[in-house]
Amino acid sequence: MMSVYKIYALFLAIIALSDAAPPRSFLPLPPAAAPGPAPPPSGVKGAYWPSWLAQTLPPSNIPTSYFTHLFYAFVLPDATSYQLIITKPDDQWMGNFTTSLHAKNPPAKALLSVGGAAGSPNNFSNLVSNSDNRAAFISSSIDVARKYDFDGLDLDWEFPSNPLDMSNLALLFQEWRAAVNQESLASGKPGLLLSSAVYFASNFFLSSDVPRTYPGEAIRNYVDFVNPMCFNYHGSWNTSATGAHALLFDNSSNISTSYGISTWKGDGVPSNKIVMGMPVYGRTWQLKDPNEHGIGAPAVGTGPGGTHGVMIYSDILGFNSLNNATVVFDNATVSTYSYAGTNWIGYDDTNSIQAKIKFAKAQGLGGYFLWELGYDSNWTLARAGIKSFFPVAL
Ligand SMILES: *[C@@H]1O[C@H](CO)[C@@H](O)[C@H](O)[C@H]1NC(C)=O
Ligand SMILES: *[C@@H]1O[C@H](CO)[C@@H](O)[C@H](O)[C@H]1NC(C)=O
Ligand SMILES: *[C@@H]1O[C@H](CO)[C@@H](O)[C@H](O)[C@H]1NC(C)=O
Ligand SMILES: *[C@@H]1O[C@H](CO)[C@@H](O)[C@H](O)[C@H]1NC(C)=O
Ligand SMILES: *[C@@H]1O[C@H](CO)[C@@H](O)[C@H](O)[C@H]1NC(C)=O
Ligand SMILES: *[C@@H]1O[C@H](CO)[C@@H](O)[C@H](O)[C@H]1NC(C)=O
Ligand SMILES: *[C@@H]1O[C@H](CO)[C@@H](O)[C@H](O)[C@H]1NC(C)=O
Ligand SMILES: *[C@@H]1O[C@H](CO)[C@@H](O)[C@H](O)[C@H]1NC(C)=O
Repeated sequence: MMSVYKIYALFLAIIALSDAAPPRSFLPLPPAAAPGPAPPPSGVKGAYWPSWLAQTLPPSNIPTSYFTHLFYAFVLPDATSYQLIITKPDDQWMGNFTTSLHAKNPPAKALLSVGGAAGSPNNFSNLVSNSDNRAAFISSSIDVARKYDFDGLDLDWEFPSNPLDMSNLALLFQEWRAAVNQESLASGKPGLLLSSAVYFASNFFLSSDVPRTYPGEAIRNYVDFVNPMCFNYHGSWNTSATGAHALLFDNSSNISTSYGISTWKGDGVPSNKIVMGMPVYGRTWQLKDPNEHGIGAPAVGTGPGGTHGVMIYSDILGFNSLNNATVVFDNATVSTYSYAGTNWIGYDDTNSIQAKIKFAKAQGLGGYFLWELGYDSNWTLARAGIKSFFPVAL
C-alpha cells in the first residue's frame, strides 16, 4: 500500500480527523508529581462535534444520553505565538457548547480539541520543540478552557513525524499535566482533563514510515486517555481492490483495529486509557465485475461519494435504499459493506459498531469515540454504541 504519509495526507484532505500510528521507545521520565489521572469510571462514550456544522447541528441538539464526552473540533495554535486562535464563530459557539452540554440531563463533559486535519504537523513540531513554546501553548490552552468553561483539552496532532517529535510530545504531556494540576490547586476547580487523538497504532510501522513510537510512559503518567483513530485503513489511494477501512480483524495484515489496540497496550498505556475510534462514514470502490463483490474484490476506481470515494453514514443509508443495495455484515473482519451493480461501500453499521464495542469491553478499554457527530442518521450509530456499552435497553 502507499505510504502512510500519502494515506494521511489524503485522509486529511478529505475528512478532518484521521487515524495515525506510534512506535515503541520508553522515555525515562520522572514520576508524575501526583498519581496518574484515573480514567472516568463510567467509561468514555465520546464523539467529535465539528464546529463548522454549528448551524445544522447546534450543541443544544446533541443528545447527551448517548455520550459522556464531546470534543469541540477544532481550534489551532498560532504558528508563532503558540496561543490558541479563537475565531469569531469559535467565540460564539464555545460557550454555547459547554453551557448546553452541562445543562443537559444527563450532563456531558466538553473538551476542546486542538489540531485536526487543518493543523500543520510541522507547526506542532515547532510548538513542542522548546520549553518556551510549550509553556506559551499550555498557558493559553488552560486560559481558553477556563474562559469558556471546558472540562478538558484534547490534542489532535496529525502526526508527530519522527522520534524527536515523539520525545518532545512526552515533554508537552508532562508539562501540561503539571500546569493543569497547579491551576486546579490555585482555582479550587476540578483539574482539566487531558486527552489526545492519535494514530490507530502506537507505532508507525509501515515500510514507508519513519519508524516512531508514541511515548507510552508519558501517556500513562500524564494523559487521561488517548483516542486512537481506528479507520482509513483502505481508501482512494488504492483502487485495485475493495477494502474495509475500519475493520477489527485482518488475517493478512497488521492494518486493523485489533492490532492497533494491541500495540497501544504493548506501549505501556493502560487498557482503560485507550478509547477506540470508529468512523461514521464509509469508503467506496467501483467493482471490476459486479459478480465479485467481497472484501478485496478487484476494483477499478472509487465509487460514489465524490472523487475521494467517501460517504457519510446517513448518505450510505440513502444510497442503499435508493439502489436496493445488498448489505453484508462480514463477521470475520467485523465490518459491513453494501453493493449495487458495480458500486461498493465499506463502512460501519449497527452490527459492526456493536461487535467492536463488545471487543473493546472484552479488552478492558476505556471506551470508544465516533468521528463524527454530524454524519450519523437519526443517531442510529450513537444509539447502537451506547446500547452495547451499557447492556440496558434505552
Ligand atoms: C492495494 O490493495 C490490495 C488489497 O488490499 C493489495 O493487495 C495491494 O498490494 C495494494 N496495492 C498497493 C500499490 O499498495
Ligand atoms: C445555544 O445556541 C442555540 C442555537 O442558536 C440556542 O437555541 C441556545 O439557547 C443556546 N444555548 C445556550 C446555553 O446559550
Ligand atoms: C504554519 O506556520 C506557518 C508559518 O510558520 C503559517 O504560515 C501557517 O499558516 C501555519 N499553518 C497552520 C495550519 O497553522
Ligand atoms: C482470511 O480471511 C478471509 C476473508 O476475510 C478468508 O476467506 C480466509 O479464509 C482467511 N484466511 C485464514 C488463513 O484464516
Ligand atoms: C504484525 O506485527 C507483528 C509484530 O507485532 C509481526 O511479528 C508480524 O509479522 C506482523 N504481521 C504482518 C502480516 O506484517
Ligand atoms: C432488490 O434486490 C433483491 C436482491 O438483493 C431482489 O431480490 C429484489 O428483486 C430487488 N428489488 C428491486 C425492486 O429491484
Ligand atoms: C463470528 O465471529 C465470532 C468471533 O470470531 C465467532 O465466535 C462466531 O462463531 C462467528 N460467527 C459466525 C456466524 O461465523
Ligand atoms: C429516529 O429515532 C427515533 C428513536 O429510535 C425513532 O422514534 C424515530 O422514528 C426515528 N426517526 C426517523 C425519521 O427515522
